[in-house]
Amino acid sequence: MKEYLKSDSEQIDHILNIIKEQGTGYLNTLADRPTSVNNDLISEQMDLPESGMGTESALKIFNERFEPIMVGSSGPRYLGFVTGGTTPASIAGDWLATVYDQNTQSVKGQGDISAGIELETIKMLLDLLGLPENFLGGFVTGATMSNFTGLAVARQWIGKELGKDFAKDGISGTVKVLTATPHSSSIKSLSLLGMGSGNIVRIKTAGDNREAICLKDLENQIVQLNDEPFILISSGGTVNTVDFDDFSEIRKLKEKYKFWWHIDAAFGGFAACSDTHKHLVEGWEDADSITVDCHKWLNVPYESAVFFVKEEYRILQVETFQNSNAPYLGDPLDNFGYLNFLPENSRRLKALPAWFSMMAYGRDGYKAIVENNIKLSEQFGEMIENSDAFKLLAPVRLNTVCFTLKDDTKQDQVSRFLESLNETGKVFMTPTFYNSHTGIRAAFVNWQTQEKDIELIFDLMNKIAATVG
Ligand SMILES: Cc1ncc(COP(=O)(O)O)c(C=O)c1O
Repeated sequence: MKEYLKSDSEQIDHILNIIKEQGTGYLNTLADRPTSVNNDLISEQMDLPESGMGTESALKIFNERFEPIMVGSSGPRYLGFVTGGTTPASIAGDWLATVYDQNTQSVKGQGDISAGIELETIKMLLDLLGLPENFLGGFVTGATMSNFTGLAVARQWIGKELGKDFAKDGISGTVKVLTATPHSSSIKSLSLLGMGSGNIVRIKTAGDNREAICLKDLENQIVQLNDEPFILISSGGTVNTVDFDDFSEIRKLKEKYKFWWHIDAAFGGFAACSDTHKHLVEGWEDADSITVDCHKWLNVPYESAVFFVKEEYRILQVETFQNSNAPYLGDPLDNFGYLNFLPENSRRLKALPAWFSMMAYGRDGYKAIVENNIKLSEQFGEMIENSDAFKLLAPVRLNTVCFTLKDDTKQDQVSRFLESLNETGKVFMTPTFYNSHTGIRAAFVNWQTQEKDIELIFDLMNKIAATVG
């Protein structure tokens, strides 16, 4: 064993202790960490060292070069994209997932059995989200891969309906995909799956200032397909305005027509945790596949999302993902192993942070996180609504506030306003374009965000708005 590897392994206790101290130092001051940095601060890239230096010296270099410019993206005022935080229990689970370093695959046999933990976590998640247990679920890296997984099984389903095996023979003909306001990652998945990102039938939205699907137009388009099977991509929370397709009505269409129903509920699915907002997902249990992101509102570290695919489609799922030229892996239907049910083969025990966090905080803990974020979004929305400087671009339906400068003649100033706001390092939001307006999105999905944060943010916004124009 080479010198540094040997000395590191002898000092693992010391190494983990200094990392723990650094980690707690970071977490304890997270709220004060700048929420943005100038990317130009990254200096030149270093070369591969010939003989290494040991972990402590590597840490010293990391601390000199990178640590000071790490942004507080898991902190309370990072409202950009849809960025969750990390609960203490999820950090514990994540650290242990690294320490135990399992390759999470099967639940039987003599090898590793960590998939049992994953299956238990899936069961708990279904319960948390009010979904029945007739879904087969698994962890992937993010909602993008979850959409990919659901749509991949959908593709195989369409093929079977047409008497074809797309997984084996490749796609022939055109697969019909209907959707109103899909997330870009679903479009990307259609491209990856060979179904074509441009090959979608856009359904109208449900009316003015809505992103949900118009049911009347949907049914008209379905009728025009003359019984041809198709995929419907539904939204369980759109990114700009968090609009939800009407799942209770779509489930009725499913009784009349033949289609695969995929719901992207990456963050909106957590509405199920709130007594006041669970109605938004009513009926989603009848979908064929569902996407839920855990690194968003479950507040576990990146990379963590789940797919749920109805168990009755196990065969289609295996046909899509099996390692078909590896007989040593056994019969995937007989001997369940994740590598035959999802895109990745080798995979870490991604479920462990989610398992720890759900065990540690339970149903009530998550209800409190979700309802707190909803309350803060509503309060922030009201501040905007009552302000002279800003206006809402859409009603606050759940946890995201989409707004712009009140004065439409200042539309060309919105980007500059946002840049100045983000430059303060006290808050981070992301730009958008919605309803013919340049806008700004603030998404609340962090367990640490409090009322004092939105007050501080709103104060900053007003000061900066006064200098714009
Ligand atoms: C509705 C929706 N779907 C999919 C995604 C993609 O998620 P990820 O970045 O985890 O792949 C997002 C990300 O914000 C989203 O909001």
